[in-house]
This record gives sequence, structure tokens and C-alpha cells, in this order.
Amino acid sequence: MKILSTGKYLPEKVVTNAFFEKLLDTTDEWIFSRSGIKERRTASPGETCAYMGTQAALDAIDKAGVTPADIGMVIVATTTPDTVFPSVACQVQAAIGAKNAAAFDLQAACSGFLYSLILAHQFLKSNTCQYILVIGAEKLSAITNMEDRTTAVLFGDGAGAVLVQANNDPHVRGRLLAFDLGADGTQEKILFLHNANTARANAVDLGGGAYITMSGQEVFKHAITEMAKSAQKTLAAAGLTVDDIRCVIPHQANMRIVKVLADRLKVPKEKCFTNLERYGNISAACIPVALSEAEKHYHLQPGDKILMVAFGGGVTWASAVMEW
Ligand code: UT7
Repeated sequence: MKILSTGKYLPEKVVTNAFFEKLLDTTDEWIFSRSGIKERRTASPGETCAYMGTQAALDAIDKAGVTPADIGMVIVATTTPDTVFPSVACQVQAAIGAKNAAAFDLQAACSGFLYSLILAHQFLKSNTCQYILVIGAEKLSAITNMEDRTTAVLFGDGAGAVLVQANNDPHVRGRLLAFDLGADGTQEKILFLHNANTARANAVDLGGGAYITMSGQEVFKHAITEMAKSAQKTLAAAGLTVDDIRCVIPHQANMRIVKVLADRLKVPKEKCFTNLERYGNISAACIPVALSEAEKHYHLQPGDKILMVAFGGGVTWASAVMEW
């Protein structure tokens, strides 16, 4: 599997920490020092999850020079679909005119994009199709309790996309070298959507009374442990060390998590790409948006190896090493 192009879409509306200082018993100092977040983007009512996913997809398609009819599959990783069905993927498929594509959503919370990318790899490996659009799109503002200072300040909205292509030529650079997937459903209560069943019964807007509930410290500990283990497993499976890695794209939940992860992996901090200062945690959209920005930041060249690693509700985790 080769990444042909990346794309992203972030809503224009910027919400700074100062906004929350007026709304809640919190401070810019607390938010920044505990999480590393300074601002996040918030979708306007017209910016649905499907709209943001579509814009990110179009960005990736434009750059790749592939026509939508060539795309054989659209996978959208999301925890915040606008409706239970149709899926966000079907809405994106229609909006971009990918008339020959199968389309479905995948839900693995913040690990969803990597789960989807790895699944796309398997489909390409089995010659199911030639091009797959893998998107992470989230409208977390729809499920954030703005009265809960422990979560309201952390999340944002946005979408990222990658267009991947089957690469069966061993002489051509660009492939997924190794990956790891995992989950531990016994930890479901440390991060979940409260009132989700009521909201699903209403089915129009997933928001309808459902909101993110998190035991921050518990998630923090599990995130570090599982992401470090998963990344080490994937590096070993690829036969690589961190010295071979051009950059690490970690899930963007907390700068302190990224720092501890970097220490455990013995990766210099400058190799770890972060944008959470600007966007906060956008769940499944974190890694594709970061990837899209890291491509420019590190001037990624064919042969560069990148390590991606995520952790999310469920709980779930995933990591992958890609050659650019
Ligand atoms: O994307 C999925 C993965 N998600 C994550 O990885 C998130 C993991 N967790 C975290 O990032 C951190 O645990 C948080 C940023 C959520 C919280 O940071 P913390 O250092 O773990 O804080 P804490 O939960 O231990 O809370 C410390 C204090 C508490 O007050 P008391 O009990 O010490 O009086 C909280 O009530 O900070 C208080 N607090 C706040 N104070 C001001 C919690 N939220 C806020 C706030 N402003 N926004």
C-alpha cells in the first residue's frame, strides 16, 4: 500500500482557551500546562461530519490527480456520524461522485483512522480494488458537554484523509511495513459516550443529550502504556529501531502523553509531530490531519519511515510503520 496524497479540513471558527475562561471555572494556564492545547476548531451548524470528511477527501483527491470514479472504497473512521445511517462514508461517496466505491464507517474512537488504514491495506493486498480513500472525520462539539470543564476544553472538530493505492512493485517505495491493533473492552467505563442509547433512539443528531465522559487520569495511564507497547511491537515487527524513523505521528490528546511516549520510545521530541496546541483532540481525525501537516513539516521523501500510534475509547489502540 502506498500513500498517494493527504488532505485535511478544519472549520474556520477558532475557539481559544480564553473562551472557556469566561464559560467555566478554568484558566488558559491550567488548560495549556495540563494538556498543551491553546485553541481548537469548532464546526458551524452547516459543517457536518460528512461535509468536513468530504472537504478533506477532495483535498486529497485533487493532489493525487485521481478521478473519483477510480476509487474503489471509501472508509470513514468516526465516532460522531451525523446520522446512525446512512453512514458518513456513503454521504462522502455521493458528494465526491465516487460512484464505483463501496463505502462504510468504522468506529474505534481515536484509534479509528489507524484501524481503517490497516483495513485498507488488507483490502489492497487482496486485490479488492486499486484505490481507497481513508478518512478520519469528527464533529466532537456535537457530543461535548460544555458544562464539564474536565472534557469541554479538550476536544475539537475537523477531518483528514489519505488516498492509498495498491503497490505490488517491490522496487517502488511506499508501503505499510508493519502494524499492531489492540483493544481492551474491560476498560469501557474510562472513556465513553454517556446517554448514547437515548441519543441513538432519537437518531437525528447523535448529540441529543449524549456526551463524552472520561476518567482523565485512567485514560492517561492506559494511553501511555498501550501506545508505547504497541509502537515497540510494530517497530520490532518491521525490523526497525527508532533511529530508522523520520517522524512519529502520535494521537494528539495531550502534550504530556506525547512527551512520556517519546521518552519511553527514546525518540527525540523534535521527531514527534504535534498540532494539538492548535486543534486540540479531534479523535479519529488527529492522525490524518497531523500526517497531512507532517508531510510538509518534515519534507517527507520517498523511503522516509513514519511511525503512527493511537489510543482511544473502547479502549482501543493501534500503530503502524509506513514507508513514504
Ligand atoms: O483521545 C482519547 C484519549 N484521551 C486522552 O488520552 C486524555 C488523557 N487524559 C488527560 O489528558 C488528562 O488526564 C487531562 C488533561 C484530561 C486532565 O489532566 P490531569 O493532570 O490528569 O488532571 P486531573 O484529572 O487529575 O485533575 C486535576 C485537578 C482536579 O481538581 P482537584 O480534584 O485536584 O481539586 C480537577 O477537577 O484539575 C481539575 N480540573 C480542572 N481545573 C481547571 C479538571 N479540569 C479542569 C479545567 N480547569 N479544565
